[in-house]
Amino acid sequence: MLLKPPFIILNMKSYQESSGENGLNLAKICEDLAKENDVSIMICPQQVDLTYICKNVTIPCLSQHVDPIESGGYTGWVSINSVKNSGAKGSLINHSEHKMNLADTDLIIGVLRSFNLISIVCANNEITSRAVAELRPDFVAIEPPELIGTGVSVSSARPEVVSHTVESVKYIDQNIKVLCGAGISNGEDVRSAVNLGADGILLASGVIKAKNQKKALLDLISYI
Ligand code: G3P
Repeated sequence: MLLKPPFIILNMKSYQESSGENGLNLAKICEDLAKENDVSIMICPQQVDLTYICKNVTIPCLSQHVDPIESGGYTGWVSINSVKNSGAKGSLINHSEHKMNLADTDLIIGVLRSFNLISIVCANNEITSRAVAELRPDFVAIEPPELIGTGVSVSSARPEVVSHTVESVKYIDQNIKVLCGAGISNGEDVRSAVNLGADGILLASGVIKAKNQKKALLDLISYI
């Protein structure tokens, strides 16, 4: 499948509704809707489910996190090699729920790239977005932490954060794609994100916690 903007990335976090078999069911829903509607959906399965889900769907899977190590004696760490071996196509880095320092972020972007894996670096505001853009990741995802999980979307509550970040990041390197996330839950939120210049969105609870995940996802891609 050829991926094209707008990119929809669903982060399964550690919710019960996206764990184990629930995670695989949700991944299958994403796969079906991506194919039927020709939209670019990527998923970030829970870490312990990563290999399992990668093997069972054809849409790109990403790791939710990766540590600045390739492999070795690091109990409980997520090595870059393990991400590659899982079949994932890349990783989120520095999510506000799993922060990382700039030097480690830099190292990880470089190693992921040498493995042909994509890097999506999260940032909490425009200034941090500029700093991480200097590291030349493939994607920068702007997510104001105070809106995460609230159902109040960044694209409607803080539109200037999205548009200023897009401007700043593209000024540094127009090849870097910009995502926005936090509180996004419907097609209208996606539409405003794209109108603000974002190349896509990163979301979680709006779909994962929905009574009907498929319906929520369908609504989300309705505008595309
Ligand atoms: O990684 C996505 C994220 O942090 C946004 O979460 O639940 O507000 O869509 P949510």
